[in-house]
Amino acid sequence: MLAGKRLLLIIGGGIAAYKCLDLLRRLKEQGMQVTPVLTAAAQEFVTPLSVAALAGEKVYTDLFDLTDESEMGHIQLSRVADLVLVAPATADLMAKMAGGHANDLASTLLMATDTPVMIAPAMNLRMWQHPATQRNAAQLQADGITLVGPNAGGMACGEYGPGRMSEPLEIVAAIKAALSNGPLTGKRLLVTSGPTHEPIDPVRYIANRSSGAQGSAIAAALAALGAEVVFVTGPADVPPPEGVEVVAVQTAAEMLAAVEKALPVDGAVFAAAVADWRVASAQKSKIKKDKGKLPVLEFAENPDILAQISQMKTGRPKLVVGFAAETDDVIALAQAKRVRKGCDWIVANDVRPQTGIMGGEENAVHVITADSCESWPRMQKTQVACQLADRIAAALA
Ligand code: CTP
Repeated sequence: MLAGKRLLLIIGGGIAAYKCLDLLRRLKEQGMQVTPVLTAAAQEFVTPLSVAALAGEKVYTDLFDLTDESEMGHIQLSRVADLVLVAPATADLMAKMAGGHANDLASTLLMATDTPVMIAPAMNLRMWQHPATQRNAAQLQADGITLVGPNAGGMACGEYGPGRMSEPLEIVAAIKAALSNGPLTGKRLLVTSGPTHEPIDPVRYIANRSSGAQGSAIAAALAALGAEVVFVTGPADVPPPEGVEVVAVQTAAEMLAAVEKALPVDGAVFAAAVADWRVASAQKSKIKKDKGKLPVLEFAENPDILAQISQMKTGRPKLVVGFAAETDDVIALAQAKRVRKGCDWIVANDVRPQTGIMGGEENAVHVITADSCESWPRMQKTQVACQLADRIAAALA
């Protein structure tokens, strides 16, 4: 969906500028045309030559370059794009933007542009947390500018906390969401996917046969309709889709924490095959064989993530979709499960081994709502995902 679209990429002067080289490569892979602009400070971190080589286009650096002005003036340059992205957006660049300065090419373009602007902040955590930066961030958002990130994590300066620039794929996802005009544009959706692994000891765990294929396909289909998607995934066999924010977890408890952190969302699809039980006290050291004595595992019940979110008193997503993996009496059990858990829809499937559904590429589902039950023919999981995404878009319209 980015093919043929044009991005004006303003690279600011921070160590995260190196990530822009990878970002450029990812955007070119998607067929996007990128016009790069480097601030003076950015040129200390990446060279115009490497940026030009990856972008396959001329790099702009100077406000008063007469050749540039005769070829393409700065006003025109600021308006040729579908989107302007500032990455990394340093504290200084953000301050300039919030204050309306126009004393170099980057800040002048940002003042002159009439296209949407997105920034990916990157700086030391104290600089990010500084009241001045927080004030500027709030001002920029109030001015209609979209912020992607920053993330928390280890920094080049050795400190740990918020301030890291979002990863290139997260930025690509945000660009897609910003440029999409699909029916889910502006909506935030959550998808859980894959199995969970519940540890017995550091080397053993309890798991299930879920591949994560259906959840991954649903996340991709929602993103393709323009949604901003948070994809919370257990250790799945299939890779997460591009263009979504991926949160990788292992256990049900971690999945619940990640889901709660992702709220508020407009809609949530719980496609994960969450383990119902965990080992009550997972051992810190490997359990050793003990002369024929068999270990006894005690279980504790895991939180029911779907039920917990469905039954939220305040801030509940407008649409909550659960899955029901059943081996007998599929429709009746799924209808009862919908009521018991309190979700709006249940997508039920028959996971007996002979169906080949769990871990396979196809699915045959029944979509159960408060007053209907539709049985869809067996089809590719990607097709189920597209149909379901269309349904979700209609329900959230
Ligand atoms: N689910 C969840 N948290 C759990 C268990 C299940 O969020 N701890 C969600 C699944 O993601 C799915 C739905 O609940 O959307 C139903 O999962 P399923 O395994 O079919 O049902 P269970 O709740 O485990 O009930 P049972 O095992 O009795 O069928």
